[in-house]
Amino acid sequence: MEEINKELLQQFRPPAFPGSFFISFEGIEGAGKTTQINRIKDYLEDKDFRVLVLREPGGTPYGEKLRKAILETSTNIHPVAESYLFASARAQLLTEVVLKELNTPNTIIICDRYLDSTIAYQGIARELGVQRILETHNVFPLHLVPHRTIYVKIDLETSLKRQEMRNNPKDYFESQDHSFHQKLIDGYDLASELFPERISVVDGKRDFDEVYLSIRQQIDDLIFKKED
Ligand code: TYD
Repeated sequence: MEEINKELLQQFRPPAFPGSFFISFEGIEGAGKTTQINRIKDYLEDKDFRVLVLREPGGTPYGEKLRKAILETSTNIHPVAESYLFASARAQLLTEVVLKELNTPNTIIICDRYLDSTIAYQGIARELGVQRILETHNVFPLHLVPHRTIYVKIDLETSLKRQEMRNNPKDYFESQDHSFHQKLIDGYDLASELFPERISVVDGKRDFDEVYLSIRQQIDDLIFKKED
């Protein structure tokens, strides 16, 4: 396995805004991220937090244009071009939205995908290497990471079954072959090993209610933890 520089890993830190939190959700197609994000949003709003849900790539007018450019492309995009495109949309989202909104106390930003998607998709599945992805992100504001990342993990078989049931038209990444999707799982496993304190791995194969309760526990631990 690729050796990642430890000092580089330590550059990735959450932004410091007392009382506000930045949380991301990750997973392959069919993991159930969207359903879980909606439920967690309702739960946190009931607890009187101001909750903003963002998605990557996107979340700003510029980012949404880049999203269209990549997901609707009919040509092959070079992995280097791809990785900078996601980083570009991310830097804009951080400065235009995340860092501004977290300034308001009691705010929770939930981001549907973030850096770990780039690690899994471009770093591993597209074979750019994780060290290279992290080096690209080792600059303000891209070195800022969520306080907690919920990785909803499912296996390839479950992903394929759920995709079959939905029968939605496939975008650029969804139409890649099975080995690409297996590499995504490997990529997320690697990200979870590199950032064990930030990334919580939740077994997404279970019934949606059970998955929700596990995620809620992780979020409660983060938000309502006792200050020592
Ligand atoms: P989206 O429709 O939001 O996917 P999903 O509903 O599965 O979350 O499309 C985003 C796609 O972009 C998704 O296939 C993953 C991919 N992606 C990357 O390859 N790298 C990245 O850094 C990000 C944020 C997304």
